[in-house]
Amino acid sequence: MGRFDGKVVLVTGGNRNTGLWLVKKFVDEGARVFACGSSERSAKSGAEALDGMGVKGVTMMTCDISDLAQVTAMFDRIEKDAGRLDILVNNAANQGIGHGGPLEMDPAKFHEVFNVNVIGGFQVTQMACNRFFMKQESRGTVVFLSSNTAMRAIRGRTAYCSSKGAINSMVRALALDLAPLGIRVNCCAPGYINTERWDVLDPKIAARRRLNCPLRREATGTDIANVVAFLASEDSSNMAGEIVTCDAGCSCQHMPEDVDC
Ligand SMILES: NC(=O)c1ccc[n+]([C@@H]2O[C@H](COP(=O)([O-])OP(=O)(O)OC[C@H]3O[C@@H](n4cnc5c(N)ncnc54)[C@H](OP(=O)(O)O)[C@@H]3O)[C@@H](O)[C@H]2O)c1
Repeated sequence: MGRFDGKVVLVTGGNRNTGLWLVKKFVDEGARVFACGSSERSAKSGAEALDGMGVKGVTMMTCDISDLAQVTAMFDRIEKDAGRLDILVNNAANQGIGHGGPLEMDPAKFHEVFNVNVIGGFQVTQMACNRFFMKQESRGTVVFLSSNTAMRAIRGRTAYCSSKGAINSMVRALALDLAPLGIRVNCCAPGYINTERWDVLDPKIAARRRLNCPLRREATGTDIANVVAFLASEDSSNMAGEIVTCDAGCSCQHMPEDVDC
């Protein structure tokens, strides 16, 4: 028997990288899973990737979560196909890479990042609650993905780091208002995750990053999926408004070992 037998799950951004492993985890543990990519092309390649991983029965949709009309259409589809939703995983993110530093970046780019990571995450959560959780006796659970960069910034990523900080605050605010209604909201804050971006990384930089990790390795998608599944499951039934860091110990150190003295 799986932890998520009979449960219906939505994973935003479930079409590539970490999202694929999140989808796989819920499917492996018995759930009926819906996922989305932001475009028809990325959703199609996501469906193919899951097929290649042997993950079956997933409904892959196209939804730009920053567009309320597309979010509504996505929930219409879940209602039609499954008639309920039990778990929402807000994984989709605009990484805000290549915007330049804070002095030269186009403020419109800042809006783009916030429109996906913060506004998008909010409107998907609000719709999950109003369309499903509040109408179901067993209510529902929300897990956000933020980042350890919400606490410790990285260079050249002002919009992204700010958006992840906003997600942490939003998780606490949502949890406070929704916990009395029976809806739990929690968050996983990853550090380095091995994604396709690591495939093109200079091996010297990959080695330097690993040295930066007290555990000497980045997370796998499975590492992150394990934490998210815990937060989505009854195993965490007394937790609300928590930010659980999963970053190989990076956040507990002042300086990496090779510059410590
Ligand atoms: N990778 C890391 O090292 C790391 C570290 C800390 C935190 N995180 C967080 O962990 C989560 C997963 O990270 P990742 O690296 O696997 O992400 P990723 O490779 O950047 O993938 C982002 C996902 O979000 C989707 N997305 C982007 N904009 C969207 C929009 N407007 N509407 C719907 N979906 C949209 C993308 O879909 P498309 O394919 O359609 O673009 C893609 O599936 C993210 O929340 C990320 O911020 C990652």
